[in-house]
Amino acid sequence: MIAVDFALDIAFKQVSKSRLPEVDFNHLPFGKIMTDHMFVADYDGQEWKDLRIVPFANMSISPANLTLHYGQTIFEGLKAYKTDAGEVLVFRPDQNVKRLNKSAIRMYMPEIPEEIFLGGLRELLSVDREWVPTTSGSSLYIRPLMFATDEYVGLNASKTYRFIIMCSPVGAYYNKPVKVKVETHFTRAVEGGIGYAKTAGNYAASMLPTQLAVEEGYDQLIWTDGKEHKYVEEAGSMNLMFVINNKLVTASTGDSILDGITRKSVIQIAKEMGMPIEERKLAINELIEGVKSGALQEAFGAGTAATIAHIIQIGYEGIRYELPAVETRTFSNAVYKEMENLKYGRIADLRGWMMTI
Ligand code: COI
Repeated sequence: MIAVDFALDIAFKQVSKSRLPEVDFNHLPFGKIMTDHMFVADYDGQEWKDLRIVPFANMSISPANLTLHYGQTIFEGLKAYKTDAGEVLVFRPDQNVKRLNKSAIRMYMPEIPEEIFLGGLRELLSVDREWVPTTSGSSLYIRPLMFATDEYVGLNASKTYRFIIMCSPVGAYYNKPVKVKVETHFTRAVEGGIGYAKTAGNYAASMLPTQLAVEEGYDQLIWTDGKEHKYVEEAGSMNLMFVINNKLVTASTGDSILDGITRKSVIQIAKEMGMPIEERKLAINELIEGVKSGALQEAFGAGTAATIAHIIQIGYEGIRYELPAVETRTFSNAVYKEMENLKYGRIADLRGWMMTI
């Protein structure tokens, strides 16, 4: 269990009227409905201060705000779940603080102290705990965000920043197995670039290529390396994992691939299951040959929003390759079940991954 036993001085302004009664928890979209409150802290160039929980509302921003022009902003994604006993559990929030701070260093932004991230999150979830859904397959998506607040259109790093945690009750991100297209023209990230940082630019760069793939009937891309477009990287919304000849194969993380928390959790569970794991370069050719020969048994995306998303079709050089039926996928179905059981508190948290609110 992740312990958060520090006290923080957080001001609180409650909403005058909760929006909770208006929410249809049986039909939750992804990321469109926000809870009543948000946690906010400001960095004045020296320290994080003015910690507060306030009603979720629009903010006023100068058109000269540096983030709007140069994208000095980073974010995270994590989820909270409600158990049958009504307890609220958060999945591996300590990993999100670490990754946010790695992104902060790369984007030349201040790091956020773990006490502020975890303490602010704990208080926010205590205030908005009724928003954590209990309907099957749903959860509370948590979006921490840090962005530059200097008003300056010259190009340099901001001195001031804002940190926000907002929450949204969500249903599935993908509600059916996904079709992915291997992208061999556009590049998401390169060695020495910002691909491993969870920063807006990576996602902005994916909009056009993804839209072109969507117009061809795909849901997502398999990004390939920026140098040769030969090797699997990630899918933008999730890491990519494969079972080939009974081994779990996934691209090693590095400069150009996000170090996914779901990805590393899947790897740990696979190890416990005795599954051989290969974190290595995976050539698109090997993947396609694997589909043809039957060596490729499973393909899935792993991410907070996406959870474990089965990949049912891969498009490459104009050919659509159909993958084995979802019901035959022993590993990804088992790992999904193990993670769901853990998140909803149906099994003991022996790995110490969950934070209880
Ligand atoms: C997440 O899975 O938390 C993400 O940030 C991915 C995003 C495309 C929703």
